[in-house]
Amino acid sequence: MTSKPIAIGSDHGGFELKNHIIDHLKEKGIEYKDYGIYEEKSADYPDCARPVCEAVLNGDADKGILICGTGIGISIAANKFNGIRAALCSDVYSAKMSKEHNNANIICLGGRVTGRELAFMIVDTWLEAEFQGGRHAERIAKIHKIED
Ligand code: RB5
Repeated sequence: MTSKPIAIGSDHGGFELKNHIIDHLKEKGIEYKDYGIYEEKSADYPDCARPVCEAVLNGDADKGILICGTGIGISIAANKFNGIRAALCSDVYSAKMSKEHNNANIICLGGRVTGRELAFMIVDTWLEAEFQGGRHAERIAKIHKIED
């Protein structure tokens, strides 16, 4: 498990689920930092993705959680940041694989798509999973070559 606080952020479509996930992290004693939004007011998901991606890229966090209505917009935005591997997950298997195979440093969820309890299982699974390295690391290196 990561020792740095987990960076978490959402737009208005993910606001409610973000707060539930924060409560869940608190209950589990997992440190987090909330990068907003802080009230349920319309917000543009690329703006909401930015501070969480920057926290991961500058080392303030090793892992981030981003939530919008579907998880789609915020994951597309997050993946525009070089070095971010954001995985939109709506099932537990994908969450596990996104860490084991893709070393996803951000997980994205859809607040209007994924129920609260399932979201907790997805987040827990992703946080507990370990990157397997080896051939997967070589594939990730190829992704980052595309960025260059
Ligand atoms: C906001 O209405 C919604 O478009 C946004 O949360 C997200 O689902 C975009 O992909």
